Amino acid sequence: MRSILITGGAGFAGSHFVRLLLAAEPEARVVTLDLLTYAGSRDNLRDLPDPSRHTFVQGDINDAALLDELFARHEFDALVNFAAESHVDRSILGPGAFLQANVNGAFQLLEAARRHWTDPRGRRFLQVSTDEVFGELGPDDPPWDESSPYAPRSPYAASKAAADHLALAYHHTYGLEVLLGRCSNLYGPYQHPEKLIPLVIERALSGQPVPLYGDGQQMRDWLYVEDGCAGLLAVLRAGRPGQAYNLGGGHQPTNEALVRRICDLLDGRLPGSPHRPFSRLIRRVADRPGHDRRYALDTARARAELGWRPRVPLEEGLNRTVDWYLQNRQWVEARARSGEHQAWLRQNYSQRESED
Ligand code: NAD
Ligand code: TYD
Repeated sequence: MRSILITGGAGFAGSHFVRLLLAAEPEARVVTLDLLTYAGSRDNLRDLPDPSRHTFVQGDINDAALLDELFARHEFDALVNFAAESHVDRSILGPGAFLQANVNGAFQLLEAARRHWTDPRGRRFLQVSTDEVFGELGPDDPPWDESSPYAPRSPYAASKAAADHLALAYHHTYGLEVLLGRCSNLYGPYQHPEKLIPLVIERALSGQPVPLYGDGQQMRDWLYVEDGCAGLLAVLRAGRPGQAYNLGGGHQPTNEALVRRICDLLDGRLPGSPHRPFSRLIRRVADRPGHDRRYALDTARARAELGWRPRVPLEEGLNRTVDWYLQNRQWVEARARSGEHQAWLRQNYSQRESED
């Protein structure tokens, strides 16, 4: 790969991928295209291994003229689409932005690839997908594999499912070498404090209630972000066009167990904190509408075909994540204290009376 476009590369997962790609592909030039919504920031790209091979462009994946200019100038031979609205709760309160970024945005990228890759052979389009397209599992259901039926239940999941279908349609209809890399719940450094794990850390450190939706017995399949990105890179390099690859972490605690574990880790690191034990801050609040009960991915295909497997156990990943958030207070506070985030907290949490 010589020239690669990463969309949404200033967000959480995308910024880890840009870092990994520059290190793993020493000849490649990487262009990041990112709108810099509330979720994106150039700070997330501050420690790139070889910044001279990286170009940052602020812009919208829906801007067809900008895509034409970038495709003409950089002659991409690969594109990885991370750009999206990514928070389920925001999709419940305002689904329109999700259709625009996740569905129409993916469509515009596919169209640009179709216009510019007149011979698509050897040029790869990786759409970053999610296990949420499958809906929810019952307690005894087996994990989803790549042939499980799509059954999304939130506007976010539905918008991601639509993008998957479009991307595969462009493979079958126009011969684009489309791949789907389907990650389970990612966590790690640089994740915005609206998402569960950084939210718990941030709220606990500032001595504020830690909101747990519903009965707290929902389960997610947690995957350390560097493992997820390594899986996506393996899909980009060696996946079969037209195929999806499930990338799951294989660790599925209940939300309550996860939140308590994070509180325990903070207790151990901050013996002098007036807020200890941090688990005292946990509050049950009104559930998310349509809250998916359980996610779990069967990763046999990625293991067999790509030799990929997650390397970082949940306990180690949580330790690394807690340490990063403790050592990067400025990064966290710039987001957590922003007017935008405060408005979000009021919008999402003020109606959820504590159920304790
Ligand atoms: P994020 O919200 O941290 O980052 C999204 C990035 O996309 C931001 O930098 C934002 O500025 C950018 N963006 C949004 N709309 C854009 C547009 N119209 N044009 C250009 N840039 C735009 O999200 P994330 O958690 O890093 O997720 C990245 C991708 O991975 C998403 O596609 C998401 O669906 C997928 N994914 C995430 C997870 C997870 O647990 N975080 C799991 C599975 C899949
Ligand atoms: P989240 O990080 O939003 O990821 P997703 O909804 O994509 O899985 O949430 C992870 C889980 O944590 C999910 O079951 C919802 C739950 N949750 C809470 O209990 N409280 C919160 O304040 C948030 C943001 C999430």
